[in-house]
Amino acid sequence: MAKSEKADTRPVVLLTGASGGFGCEFARQLEERGYRLILHGRDRPRMLMTLHNLRTPDSHICMYADISVDAEREAFIDKVKEYPGLYGLVNNAGFGIWGAFEQREIKPQMGVLLTDLVAPVDIAHALLPTLRRNMGFMINVSSLAGESPLPYMSTYAAAKSGLTYWSEAIRLELESEVRVVTLAPGPSPTGFRDVSGMPEGPGSGFRTRARLIVAESLKQLDRGGGFCVPGNRHKLLYLLQRITPRRLALRLMAKYLRH
Ligand SMILES: NC(=O)c1ccc[n+]([C@@H]2O[C@H](COP(=O)([O-])OP(=O)(O)OC[C@H]3O[C@@H](n4cnc5c(N)ncnc54)[C@H](OP(=O)(O)O)[C@@H]3O)[C@@H](O)[C@H]2O)c1
Repeated sequence: MAKSEKADTRPVVLLTGASGGFGCEFARQLEERGYRLILHGRDRPRMLMTLHNLRTPDSHICMYADISVDAEREAFIDKVKEYPGLYGLVNNAGFGIWGAFEQREIKPQMGVLLTDLVAPVDIAHALLPTLRRNMGFMINVSSLAGESPLPYMSTYAAAKSGLTYWSEAIRLELESEVRVVTLAPGPSPTGFRDVSGMPEGPGSGFRTRARLIVAESLKQLDRGGGFCVPGNRHKLLYLLQRITPRRLALRLMAKYLRH
């Protein structure tokens, strides 16, 4: 860390997946709240777009790593540990793969499990001593996809349900020390759908904007943490998911996602 960096006394927040849709919005809203950011991603040009949308781009830090690769993730974590003022962690990086499990290659599907579940758990474990010392926070970006099994997005639902269960469990373990938000948004217009390979479907209009999703997660943080489903329509969908018998829900989702 350079000397000039040490002079900046703002609390530091690590934001993974800063080069994407939610990431760009998290960066904007977190900067407004007075945090200095460690922005993480892989794609340099898109990361620079996030950075240059900020008010004081020169005061933030960019780090690049594929967090699904053990060695890259470990080196990235070591670099983040150089910041003792780390106050917040937003585990946002992630992606899904659309299609029948057997028909999509296994490597990207393993990538989903590594990026969306293994990496956030690993990063959180390494950084929790600092977050606890600073009485900070963690936001884990899960998904409504983690609330039920999803035919044609099976590994994504598996990863996100794992992330939600883990995040909700540690939320209680860390109560009154580190505030934890488990964020479970429904579909939102970001790069997510293109990356997943999912074609436009009948539900394409039923989306919540990234700005609202991020704002609601930060309000949940202000309330001391908790489980957060942003947007009224997706809150309703979440309630329906909880009361619909699983057999029926599975058939409906299979029909909807098969295309
Ligand atoms: N949009 C939705 O409908 C929706 C709904 C619910 C939950 N979510 C969740 O929201 C989070 C953000 O997604 P988004 O909608 O903003 O999608 P997005 O625009 O595609 O952004 C995804 C971000 O994750 C990063 N990322 C993906 N794999 C990575 C890897 N192996 N290593 C490092 N970075 C990686 C990407 O980095 P690079 O591009 O630089 O590689 C990018 O910054 C994800 O966890 C997603 O599952 C999205």
